[in-house]
Amino acid sequence: MRDIAVVTGASGGIGAAICRLIHARSEEQLQVCIHYNGNKGAAEALVNEIPDSFAVQANLSRAEGRKTLLDAVLAKGTPFCLVNNAGIDRPHEPALMVTESSYEKIMDTNLKAPLFLMRDFAKEMARNEAGVIVNISSILARKAVVGSAIYRASKIALEALTRQFAAELGPKGIRVVAVAPGFIETNMTAAIPEEQRAGIKKDVSLGNFGAPEAVAETVWHAIENQYLTGAVIAVDGGMAL
Ligand SMILES: NC(=O)c1ccc[n+]([C@@H]2O[C@H](COP(=O)([O-])OP(=O)(O)OC[C@H]3O[C@@H](n4cnc5c(N)ncnc54)[C@H](OP(=O)(O)O)[C@@H]3O)[C@@H](O)[C@H]2O)c1
Repeated sequence: MRDIAVVTGASGGIGAAICRLIHARSEEQLQVCIHYNGNKGAAEALVNEIPDSFAVQANLSRAEGRKTLLDAVLAKGTPFCLVNNAGIDRPHEPALMVTESSYEKIMDTNLKAPLFLMRDFAKEMARNEAGVIVNISSILARKAVVGSAIYRASKIALEALTRQFAAELGPKGIRVVAVAPGFIETNMTAAIPEEQRAGIKKDVSLGNFGAPEAVAETVWHAIENQYLTGAVIAVDGGMAL
């Protein structure tokens, strides 16, 4: 039975880059669990690319989906690393137009899912007194962008949970870190019109958008650095300044 690194939302741009880097840097010490929801094709392509990896389908906004993921991982080995990366940023609704259905959709995926995955995976990690959880937050936790009210709330709450779990789980040998990307080129940002992209780029001190690999490097740093916990690490090209 192997130690496993679980990456949720690995069918997306950032999650796939995290899987590749964990496989490469852990020198095959960690078996990679590629989680996906609807995009089976992307997950299967990644499984073919990363030796010894395996894919699990689950809708993580539901308790049954979270149980499916945990059970599939436990059947393969011991969870050592959990990267809560799956997330959605839509619908984009101006503050006066927010709806309860959008609230439930975004919060269930971006906040409820990582909360209960942390609870359940950390119980397993605590048996070995070893583990690391990385939560993917966002620059938008700290920056107002029209249409992102609920998304923003979900990510700042995820950062609060990161610190809370870090405080409570440190004595059990488990570290919890958040990584907050800026504007990264993935499917999530691909639909943003060129005019709006040009406006956003003006806010980036380094002058360009980030690649998923830049986020993956920071996630790997969080996994590897044994004295790091409770921190929120920005990887945003200076967009939050
Ligand atoms: N791209 C950016 O600029 C940016 C900036 C800051 C933070 N982030 C954060 O980075 C993370 C990854 O984003 P990305 O840019 O890589 O987005 P992406 O390419 O759209 O990928 C999103 C992933 O989340 C999964 N997902 C969505 N709803 C789900 C659900 N209910 N249950 C399980 N999985 C679900 C998707 O699965 P399927 O496709 O298989 O359905 C997909 O794998 C997100 O948490 C996002 O908020 C992104």
